[in-house]
Amino acid sequence: MALERHSVQLLFFTIFIISYISRYALCLANYHEPPYGSNYYLDEIYEYGYDSQAYPSYLSSIEDGKSKDLIKQRTQIFNLKNVGGFSKRGKTVNVDDFGAKADGTDDSKAFMQAWKEACSNTGAVIVVVPVDKTYRLKPIRFSGPCKANLTVQIYGTLEASDDPSDYKKDGRHWIVFDNVQNLVVEGGGTVNGNGKIWWENSCKINKSLPCKDAPTALTFYKGNNLVVSNLKIQDAQQIHVSFQKCKNVLAFNLMVTAPGDSPNTDGIHVTNTQNIRITSSTIGTGDDCISIVSGSQNVQAQDITCGPGHGISIGSLGKGNSNAYVSEVTVDGAKLSETANGVRIKTWQGGSGYVSNIIFQNIDMVNVKNPIIIDQNYCDQDDPCKEQSSAVHIKNVVFKNIRGTSASDEAVKLDCSKSYPCEAIVLENINLQSEEDEPKALCNNVDDLAQRGSVFPRCPELNFNLL
Ligand SMILES: *[C@@H]1O[C@H](CO)[C@@H](O)[C@H](O)[C@H]1NC(C)=O
Ligand SMILES: *[C@@H]1O[C@H](CO)[C@@H](O)[C@H](O)[C@H]1NC(C)=O
Repeated sequence: MALERHSVQLLFFTIFIISYISRYALCLANYHEPPYGSNYYLDEIYEYGYDSQAYPSYLSSIEDGKSKDLIKQRTQIFNLKNVGGFSKRGKTVNVDDFGAKADGTDDSKAFMQAWKEACSNTGAVIVVVPVDKTYRLKPIRFSGPCKANLTVQIYGTLEASDDPSDYKKDGRHWIVFDNVQNLVVEGGGTVNGNGKIWWENSCKINKSLPCKDAPTALTFYKGNNLVVSNLKIQDAQQIHVSFQKCKNVLAFNLMVTAPGDSPNTDGIHVTNTQNIRITSSTIGTGDDCISIVSGSQNVQAQDITCGPGHGISIGSLGKGNSNAYVSEVTVDGAKLSETANGVRIKTWQGGSGYVSNIIFQNIDMVNVKNPIIIDQNYCDQDDPCKEQSSAVHIKNVVFKNIRGTSASDEAVKLDCSKSYPCEAIVLENINLQSEEDEPKALCNNVDDLAQRGSVFPRCPELNFNLL
């Protein structure tokens, strides 16, 4: 048995080395390509098309019987080779030609007309938002399906109306791309949610006000094959960018910023979305840097810089006894600075469903309050949450190569449910120091905890079986 296990390990180690070398060679081969050349998307995809590192980390980490299904699922690693492979040539539709003024008055009508023209054109279209101009927009919905593949080049700035009465019809969205397939949105410009008025009227800032949702700045709804890149998204009313019910998404070179005290301003929110890769992005806001919630599967985040904010989160899930599913998430390569959490899974008591097959690896923490945290007793409300017996089940989670500093003494917190303990959790090569106190690992209700390599701080080895 032991021998068999070793030969399997050797096999995968070899595969790992080969794929690593070929990936490296590919990087070198592409080194002199201009960063936004015509084949840039393809290069990007080939370079990151497979998370070759995912295999060995799982196999060497979890070897017990319970984790077999995890390994099986991982063989179906998604690829995004065809996303964004479409041409970016086409007829140009410039919003200025439809009456957009960029003079502080509302430009929504001009944008809507430009969109209608673009979306009904049978050949490829590039919608252009000119550089060095600021266009003011009320809530606006760019609806598909369109006849051809569209590219939206935002060179200038889109700025949201900050008159709440403009949001009466739909208080939850500002810009929406609704049911548009094969869409590229890029250009190096800015999407500014102008969110101050919404923050001031948030119940989290002014406790005498009722809690209400504020608009998400940029929503992609029911899109398939999306590329969103090279944009600055700032000061959203609430969430900055949301991918909802989308499939096959590449998001990269995004800069997302809002003040650290702006309430609920998640950076990139992934909900009910499958096959999405978020890379090379810098996110600093008042809430989660990336939040991944129910219905999401095959989510990869690579080369992410976070802070300020609440860190990279799966959840919250299971609120109001809801059913939630999130699986196959890899966060590989991130730096979090001064955030309230590092990498986190948060679920409310009383929920159901599962979170499974999650890898957080190669992550640097700088003065992060809770660098590693699973919280199955999450409660983000004024009233205390009462104890409930059901829970969103959490299993097969790897935390690997995570190092840096913790701003609290609780550097590792695995606070799992009494009735549904976390299952198959791996801590591998963890080194978290704390400036003031001796860092601790709090580890409650974990079945099958494996601590591999050098792990500091370590979970006390009383309440689990060593593998
Ligand atoms: C639109 O993009 C898709 C996906 O890349 C591609 O298969 C299709 O051929 C493109 N259509 C046109 C008209 O270019
Ligand atoms: C909080 O909201 C109340 C009710 O609208 C308002 O009277 C008060 O001035 C607000 N407080 C602050 C600090 O803005």
